[in-house]
Amino acid sequence: MSKTSGQTVLITGVSRGLGRAMLDRFAEAGCTIWGCSRSETAIRDLQRTFAAPHQFAAVDVTDAATVAAWGAELLASGTAPDLLLNNAAIINFNAPLWEVPPDAFSDVIDVNLKGVFHVLRTFVPAMIARRRGIIVNFSSGWGRSTAPEVAPYCATKWGIEGLMSALACELPRGLAAVALNPGIIDTDMLRSCFGTDASQYDDAEAWSRRAVPFLLNLTARNNGQSLDVP
Ligand SMILES: NC(=O)c1ccc[n+]([C@@H]2O[C@H](COP(=O)([O-])OP(=O)(O)OC[C@H]3O[C@@H](n4cnc5c(N)ncnc54)[C@H](OP(=O)(O)O)[C@@H]3O)[C@@H](O)[C@H]2O)c1
Repeated sequence: MSKTSGQTVLITGVSRGLGRAMLDRFAEAGCTIWGCSRSETAIRDLQRTFAAPHQFAAVDVTDAATVAAWGAELLASGTAPDLLLNNAAIINFNAPLWEVPPDAFSDVIDVNLKGVFHVLRTFVPAMIARRRGIIVNFSSGWGRSTAPEVAPYCATKWGIEGLMSALACELPRGLAAVALNPGIIDTDMLRSCFGTDASQYDDAEAWSRRAVPFLLNLTARNNGQSLDVP
């Protein structure tokens, strides 16, 4: 049995992009995956492809009550995530800030910040009770720098860095919270802001072969760090 066998890895946004590619790599490493995303069709496909003990649910992270119910069901098993990946996020359509419709601005805040909070408030108490676990909140290069036409997204990713840093001060020994800039990867999200130029970058599959070993090596000593996938 490998060192990682038996680890439980929670991935939000598991249906596409980085989340979907990480799922393959963590499953290959012998981990058990708890995954969610909104698409019921994608979740049914994952349930067919990855049998129990993997668990997938159609959960919108913006809905606090649904996230809580999902957590209650998973945590009833008596275990908790060893690695919690707050990966789900959206980006606004490219536009100067003053042209972003208020609803579109709210959607980005709701998924990228409030969704992360809903997942943390649901699962972190059980991780604290076990006195171990690593929390990875997906940030971005645009959580540490800025660019035109993606101001709402930048605001949320800078917010993730602050949220992680404050959370890290609160966690007891044995746990860690980090913010992770994954790099630039050809996914639906990158195509939204880069168009066809996205194809110049690694795809999610290639990226996951670098990212997942890096994630599996994080320890409580990384608490409070802003990290980049090598
Ligand atoms: N790709 C890059 O170059 C890049 C760069 C920097 C940072 N990042 C960060 O890396 C993470 C993954 O990005 P990606 O490129 O893989 O994005 P993506 O291809 O757009 O995939 C986003 C995933 O999040 C899910 N999702 C979106 N809204 C959700 C919600 N309300 N509830 C639950 N799941 C939801 C989507 O599934 P459904 O539609 O089925 O819900 C999908 O599985 C994000 O945090 C992103 O900000 C990416």
